[in-house]
Amino acid sequence: MANPPLIVGNWKMNGTVEETLKMITELRHKLAPGTAQVAVAPPFTSLYSAAVALQDTPIKLAAQNMHWETEGPYTGEISGLFLKEIGCAYAIIGHSERRQYFGETDEAVNRKIRTALAQELVPIFCVGETAEQRKSGKTEAVLETQLKKGLQGFQMNDVKNMVIAYEPVWAIGTGKTATPETVREAHAFIKSLHDTRVLYGGSVKPENAADLLAQPGVDGALVGGASLDPGSFEAICRTAASLS
Ligand code: PGA
Repeated sequence: MANPPLIVGNWKMNGTVEETLKMITELRHKLAPGTAQVAVAPPFTSLYSAAVALQDTPIKLAAQNMHWETEGPYTGEISGLFLKEIGCAYAIIGHSERRQYFGETDEAVNRKIRTALAQELVPIFCVGETAEQRKSGKTEAVLETQLKKGLQGFQMNDVKNMVIAYEPVWAIGTGKTATPETVREAHAFIKSLHDTRVLYGGSVKPENAADLLAQPGVDGALVGGASLDPGSFEAICRTAASLS
């Protein structure tokens, strides 16, 4: 890994304010300074408390989603402006769970990325194929389409400032991790199209982190389930740092 690795914990719909503060306190104690670039993405209701608790620490804050408009009549949505105001550095955009369960389209993803950049939030743009798409040999075509549509209208310099997360849908929350070879191939393909940091996501755990993070083209990880345990998350961050 050329740059310091980036490890992002996506807590999904987990973490009351009380639980968030408990996890952050533990993480602050466990995480040795400078081990890796680290960010956590608690739910919206916990973000502000997390921001306060993370002040004066190198741990950054990420949002799990955002709307493409800055304000207005969009009931139930959260603006990048609000996220920036409370100190978020990153916004996860186009996670497969949002695409799958909430009908998020490539077009919506494209608009969200545009607004994130305008608010100076670093988008963590997620792409990945389903099991069926992989089985039928469509992985590269799917990734290419998601990248093309999601990044439509952006210049090379914009893309350089983003983070792309390769998250095969079949590996998310299933315990089925992609093999190092699969990861290496997918990352090489994404990097052949875009010169930017590419994280791997999908059942990353302390036990498989070294194998996955050691692959060329893997610049870090987007960690779901294992990020809810500060001990496991810290172990992944430490592994990443030891490989950089
Ligand atoms: P997982 O989730 O680590 O629980 O598989 C990854 C993600 O959804 O970002």
